[in-house]
Amino acid sequence: QKQSAVMAALVIAQDEKGWLAPETMDFVAEYLSMPAVAVYEVASFYNMYNLEPTGRHKLTICTCLPCGLQGSLDAADRLKAKLGIDFNETTPDGKFTLKEGECMGACGDAPVMLVNNVHMRSFMTPEEIDRLLAECN
Ligand code: FES
Repeated sequence: QKQSAVMAALVIAQDEKGWLAPETMDFVAEYLSMPAVAVYEVASFYNMYNLEPTGRHKLTICTCLPCGLQGSLDAADRLKAKLGIDFNETTPDGKFTLKEGECMGACGDAPVMLVNNVHMRSFMTPEEIDRLLAECN
């Protein structure tokens, strides 16, 4: 229960601040009357939390085996090439951050991506990727 309270609080804090700075996590710990280290542990365990400022559009692509077998590695390569960045990097204009994700429970729709942690995009063919990037501003 404690862990789910921390997770929920971190989601709210991240929504509010865009990312989880140490002082933000300290605040959450104090608010929940918990040791800061317990909050840091949760925040660093799950990749939906941003421990550094990210671009306006955080793109997370699932590279687990089932998606990998259905083209997600090619999709990841296309994203890297088009954005000129690698995983865990942000474009110089602060627009995009690219992340590698774990199974999102939609393996049949591979390649799948999450935009800003919440918006799922399925069947990310090269054309779909180009469309997604064009939509983001
Ligand atoms: Fe990618 Fe399940 S392996 S969504």
